[in-house]
Amino acid sequence: MLGAKIKDVASLAWGLPSFRTPQYIRDSVSTALASDPDIGKYALPDGLKELRKLVALKHARETGMSVDADSQVMITAGNMQGLNTLFHVCLDPGDEVIVTDPGFASHFQQIRLCGGKPVHWRLQEENGWALDVENLPKLITVRTKAIVLVTPSNPTGKIFSKKELLQVGAIAKANDLLLLLDDPYLYLTYENKDKHFNLASQMDLLDNTVYCFTFSKCYAMSGWRLGYMILPPQLKKEALKVHDATLICTPRISQVAGIAALKGETAHLKAFEEILSSRRDLITQRLDRIPHIFEYIKPEGAYYIFPRILAEHENSREFAIRLLNEAHVSVTPGSAFGPSGEHHVRMAFCVEDAVINTAFDRIEAYFGHVT
Ligand SMILES: Cc1ncc(COP(=O)(O)O)c(C=O)c1O
Repeated sequence: MLGAKIKDVASLAWGLPSFRTPQYIRDSVSTALASDPDIGKYALPDGLKELRKLVALKHARETGMSVDADSQVMITAGNMQGLNTLFHVCLDPGDEVIVTDPGFASHFQQIRLCGGKPVHWRLQEENGWALDVENLPKLITVRTKAIVLVTPSNPTGKIFSKKELLQVGAIAKANDLLLLLDDPYLYLTYENKDKHFNLASQMDLLDNTVYCFTFSKCYAMSGWRLGYMILPPQLKKEALKVHDATLICTPRISQVAGIAALKGETAHLKAFEEILSSRRDLITQRLDRIPHIFEYIKPEGAYYIFPRILAEHENSREFAIRLLNEAHVSVTPGSAFGPSGEHHVRMAFCVEDAVINTAFDRIEAYFGHVT
């Protein structure tokens, strides 16, 4: 936000991919705009049936779970809207939700907006930002309602291991907690495809799990506001009440784009991944040149890197503001992602190579002058 006030900023702050929405999706929306008489109208609150059916097929392909398009699939205006709806349904004032620390800042805010309390579950930086499963039971109280998981993670890029995720699943089930799987980066796992594990593939966890996918990142559709949730039928009924009362429905035109996306080619995914993987190489090479300023753990997925600040600084906020004002580089202070994020910054490498290079040229020049 502050970055918008300063001219000529090299921004690594926004998790917004530089890609355009793939052509085949835009083409199909143009056709629908020209020919579909209903394109400007409300859809059913839980989404267009054709899209829900395609989602059920996609989910079965990816997880092996067969779900019913009517009772278990709900189309959302992105994962933020989907999760916000769920927090409204599940939380009474004072209820607790366990979130990883560091974790996605909007989760904390949404939980608080619903009167709940985010409970920080510290990731193990010393172990590549892995989950600390041993510590999880100690955080569970009578007020705990849910655990939120994001893998690959924002802001660390960590892919949590299958073993740990299954242990978390077992703990959630034993304590009757919901597992909220927020999954924006599913396809962005680079050379770590085999490591990535989706807890939504576990039959024994179906009653405890809500799987949330968004088209924002993997289909470069962040502005369309489109996602979906796979959830137990009773929960869908409750979620629909909030969804209907607050949004009515996800914009139909975005749902039409989603139908095209799921029917269409997937060639863009490979291309996105190749480009992002090479940007990951670039940003790590640039970080390697300034080991006295940052130390980092290489991200396994997503498009964020979360280096620790080694240069002199008071806190991550002060550091980020100084970098912005004096070097015209914008990064996100790590403290925004929870207490364990302090003394780090998040850099998003979903931007063009030129932006990454400019940002690091400026960082090098700035620290060249600072003693
Ligand atoms: C973990 C996480 N969840 C949700 C979102 C936002 O998703 P959507 O655009 O579908 O609301 C983001 C975007 O950065 C994210 O990183």
